[in-house]
Amino acid sequence: MELLMERPREEQEKYHILTYGCQMNERDSEIIAGLLEQVGYQPTSVLEEADLVVLNTCSVRHSAENKVYGKLGEIKRLKTQNPRMKVALCGCMAQLPDVRARLKKLGVDLVFGTHNIHELPLLLQRGADMAEPCIEVWDKPGEVVESLPSRRANGISAFVTIMYGCNNYCSYCIVPYTRGHERSRSPRHILDEIVKLVDEGVREVTLLGQNVNSYGRGLSEAVDFPDLLTMVNQIDGLWRLRFTTSHPRDMTPKLIDAIASLDKVCEHVHAPIQSGSNKVLKLMNRGYTREYYFELAENMRKRIPGVAITSDLIVGFPGEEEEDFEQTLDAVKRVGFDASFTFMYSPRTGTRACSMPNQVSREVKHRRLLRLNEVQYQQALEANRKFENRVVEVLVEGKSKTNPHKLTGRTRTNRIVIFDGPETIIGKLVPVKITRAKTFNLEGVLGGGNETPNEK
Ligand code: SAH
Ligand code: SF4
Ligand code: F3S
Repeated sequence: MELLMERPREEQEKYHILTYGCQMNERDSEIIAGLLEQVGYQPTSVLEEADLVVLNTCSVRHSAENKVYGKLGEIKRLKTQNPRMKVALCGCMAQLPDVRARLKKLGVDLVFGTHNIHELPLLLQRGADMAEPCIEVWDKPGEVVESLPSRRANGISAFVTIMYGCNNYCSYCIVPYTRGHERSRSPRHILDEIVKLVDEGVREVTLLGQNVNSYGRGLSEAVDFPDLLTMVNQIDGLWRLRFTTSHPRDMTPKLIDAIASLDKVCEHVHAPIQSGSNKVLKLMNRGYTREYYFELAENMRKRIPGVAITSDLIVGFPGEEEEDFEQTLDAVKRVGFDASFTFMYSPRTGTRACSMPNQVSREVKHRRLLRLNEVQYQQALEANRKFENRVVEVLVEGKSKTNPHKLTGRTRTNRIVIFDGPETIIGKLVPVKITRAKTFNLEGVLGGGNETPNEK
C-alpha cells in the first residue's frame, strides 16, 4: 500500500465508480472513493479510461439489478479492448448468494459486501493482479467501523449515516438481508463528523438510516433520535438539518415536537405509507393502519406548520385487489402527499412476500402505477401551487442540470427551485419569489422585496 502511494501521478491507476440505489450507497461510494485514493488511485469520470471500475449495486427491485447486469455486459466488452481494466462489484447485490453465483461468468474480478467495505485496500492488495476473481463478503455485520476516509461529492450538502441495517422485515423488502440488523453509531462520532464537515464548509446535513426514528436502540447510552436532532441542532455554522427515512410507526410525539421546535430541522418528513389498504399493510408487516397514518399526518401538520410529507408507494403487492388499490388512491388524496416515489411490487427471492399467494400480473401492476402517478402528480401540483407568489428561502446548490443558464436549489420543504441568478450565490441562502409551480419543481425569481422568506 505504501509503495502504491509513492508512485508518480501519471502512473497512478484510475478508478470510476458507478452508484445505483439509495443514499446509503451514495454515501458508501464516497467512502470507497476515499479508500481508493488512500491507496494511490485517482478518479476518472471516463469509464473507458478506468483501470478499476466499481459497481456499487442495489437489489431493492428486479429493475435495479437488471441495470447492473446490462452495465456488466457493456463493461465486459470494454475489457476486451482494455485488458488492464478490472471490475469490482459491491453493495446490496453482492450480499445475495444467487447473484454471486452469476457474477463469475460476467467478468467481475472482485466482489465485496456491504459489511466489509473497509477491507477494500486489503482485498486489492491481496488480489493484486486479480488473476483469479476474489470474492470476500461477510454474511453478518461486524462492529461499526469509524474514521474511514471519504471523498465527499458536494461541498454544501452532505449525507451522514447515523445507523446501519434494518430490523423491520417488511415482507416485500430485501434490505434487512443485504444490510443486516440495525446498528446505531454513537452520538459522539456523528457529532464529530458533522462539526468537521461544517468546518469544511458544509451547511446542510442529511442524517441517513433505513429507519432513523429507531436511532439509539442498542447503544450503551440512553439517546434517541429526537435527542440526536437536538444535539446536532446546536452545531454552530450548520444551517439546515434533514433526515431520511422515517417509519410511520415510530414517529413519536417527542420526535414531532423536536422537528417543530428545532430551528435547523427542515419541515419535511419522508414517512412512506406504502399502501392505503389495511389488508395490504398487514400483509406487508408495516405495523400500522391507514387510520393511524391519517391521524399521524394530521398531527404533523398541526404541530409543524407548513410541513411537507412525502411517501413511497407500492402497487401490486400480492393479494392487492382493485378495492385495496382504490384505498391507496384515497389515502394519497386524503394525506395530500407533497411528493411520492411510486413502485410496482417486485418479488425478491428470500423475502416473505415472494412466496405469498395471489401475485398480481405485470399488466395490472402497470395499469395501477399509471393511475396512481396521475393522482399523485395532481396532489404534488396542487401542493406546489400554494407557493406561487410567495417568497421562500432557497439553499443554492449549483447550476441546473436541465438548463445550465439557470440555478437550482431547494426550499426547506425539499422543493426544487429553478431560477436566474449569478454563480456567486451558489452555496448561499437566498430569498426567491415563486412565479410558477410545476409538478416536480418551482420556478422563481431571485429576491422578494422586503418580505421575509417563510414557508410556514
Ligand atoms: N427504509 C426505507 C427505504 C427502503 S427501500 C423505508 O422503509 O422507507 C425504498 C422503497 O423501495 C421502499 O420504501 C419501498 O416503497 C420500495 N420497495 C422496497 N422493496 C420493494 C419491492 N420488493 N418491490 C417494490 N418496491 C419496493
Ligand atoms: Fe425495508 Fe421496511 Fe426496513 Fe424500510 S423499514 S428498509 S422498507 S424492511
Ligand atoms: Fe438498494 Fe440496498 Fe439501498 S437494496 S435501496 S442500495 S439499501
